[in-house]
Amino acid sequence: MFAADWQFISAAPTIEVLPPMQGVEVALAGRSNVGKSSLVNALTGRKALARTSVTPGRTQELIFFRAQPELTLVDMPGYGFAKAPKDKVEAWTRTIRAYLRGRVNLGRVFVLIDARHGIKPVDEEILDLLDKAAVSYAIVLTKIDQVKPTAQPQVLAEAQEKIRRRAAAYPEIFPTSSNTGEGFPELRAAIARLVSE
Ligand code: GTP
Ligand code: MG
Repeated sequence: MFAADWQFISAAPTIEVLPPMQGVEVALAGRSNVGKSSLVNALTGRKALARTSVTPGRTQELIFFRAQPELTLVDMPGYGFAKAPKDKVEAWTRTIRAYLRGRVNLGRVFVLIDARHGIKPVDEEILDLLDKAAVSYAIVLTKIDQVKPTAQPQVLAEAQEKIRRRAAAYPEIFPTSSNTGEGFPELRAAIARLVSE
């Protein structure tokens, strides 16, 4: 499924111009610069399918990718701080929230959390929105290569603790690194299960 030939489908600045629904959609959400676009590239094995940058605020539209009819991957702009005009950030944040709340074929949202920073109040807001809209989600701890192996159990425990406090069903947590490929077999398997359900 992931070895297939991934295509760019479209870029949507607002929910009025989303592409037609097809198969299951899997969306990547998270704060600006957390590594969403890098994760698209690592998942698909394509170095530059999604555009990445050291500057937060690189992705400014919902970007749709597809390899086969059953699965669409959606790279999203980030929420929280970004190096972009305030009105632009507000507009894309509205788009993210409306998309997450209303997209009927959204099979799962992977909420990306920088392993060095943990779950912040802006992340909790998105988790609240997903809980309220009854959208299934999982947590991806990104950039785990930046956390010393001895400190990783603590990082994971803190994320689990914050997640357990929430009322909704306990979501999976995937520690990953787009640089080393750690965690990607597990992530790919979870997505494949979703498509075959
Ligand atoms: P926006 O589109 O601006 O919201 O950012 P994004 O979440 O798409 O992040 P992006 O993939 O552009 O990556 C941001 C920065 O983090 C880049 O400099 C990446 O090289 C770096 N990065 C992403 N994933 C990893 C990782 O697993 N490990 C390390 N060390 N750096 C990473
Ligand atoms: Mg991006």
